[in-house]
Amino acid sequence: MARVFSGIKPTGSVHLGNLLGALRHWVAMQDEHQAVYCVVDLHALTVPHDPDELRRATRSLAQMLVAVGIDPERSTLFVQGHLTEHTECAWVMECTSAFGELRRMTQFKDKSDGSDFVSGGLFTYPALQAADILLYDTDQVPVGEDQRQHIELARDIAVRFNGRYGDTFVVPEAVIPPAGARVMDLQYPEIKMSKSDGGEQGAILLLDDPAMIAKKFKRAVTDSETEVRFDPTSKPGVSNLLSILGAATGQSPATAAVGIERYGDLKAATAEAVISLLRPIQDRYHELAADPAETDRLLAMGADKARSIASPTLDRVRDNLGLLSR
Ligand code: TYM
Repeated sequence: MARVFSGIKPTGSVHLGNLLGALRHWVAMQDEHQAVYCVVDLHALTVPHDPDELRRATRSLAQMLVAVGIDPERSTLFVQGHLTEHTECAWVMECTSAFGELRRMTQFKDKSDGSDFVSGGLFTYPALQAADILLYDTDQVPVGEDQRQHIELARDIAVRFNGRYGDTFVVPEAVIPPAGARVMDLQYPEIKMSKSDGGEQGAILLLDDPAMIAKKFKRAVTDSETEVRFDPTSKPGVSNLLSILGAATGQSPATAAVGIERYGDLKAATAEAVISLLRPIQDRYHELAADPAETDRLLAMGADKARSIASPTLDRVRDNLGLLSR
């Protein structure tokens, strides 16, 4: 069975872009793959953070992953910081990637632009991400469109390392869904929906209640025309609503548009579809959140399973690099 690996950062709240672009594909891929999913808490340290909030967000995100349908028995679900293998391998990745390659990463440029404190970790972030992926002999990495460049870098590092030191890593490929790979902000449809960039009104959070979801869609930015048509270049706001409606109901955006005449109806239909999609997830999340000890038990089990894959890979890496065995 092919191996799948992916990760998500415990920063801010999980939003609809995370769900449609990544998480629901993680769930679907559990059936026919050996799946490994990770809450990447170490990646959250690259920007200033509050320790109590990080602790809370890490556990809460693990609960949300189970709530959306990740089965911790069938898949491996763990927290990155529970394994030292990731940081050790990250150093090897840094030494195998070129400064120029890291400097070209658009996410680094976006996140460092205008920031008072740019950490070294923000710059080497994609090397840690490559370690995450390559430690698990990963064949496929399900992600949204914004992660494509990072996965390409992980591939380049794997190929370079194998060329220099002999066959060590499986070369992974990104799996980017045709629909939902780039959910845009509801207020600023030219930027992606995110935990921080667009402001509170622009992102649907998975824990938003139905009234809040309806309100955010009602206020979503459209355009000064009246025609409901899928055309992302000239109608970004309307097209984003159609993409969300389509992704939430299992149709293409163009099919989702059929029979909808007015912007108000499009907003109402999209809100309704998203509310129905999120309702069972929210119910499960609240049950799981009531028992943090059970979450911690599942995560400890996940860390053991993850280590049983990552540790032999790291031994192989060390040996092929010529590090003396310990
Ligand atoms: P993160 O935490 O920003 O996002 C988690 C996943 O959600 C996807 N995503 C979106 N998809 C569609 N529309 C959007 N608006 C949207 N916003 C986010 C992301 O593409 C991602 O798949 N660096 C990664 C985490 C990571 C990782 C890894 C991923 C660390 N190590 C190894 C894969 C493999 C990140 O910050 O994702």
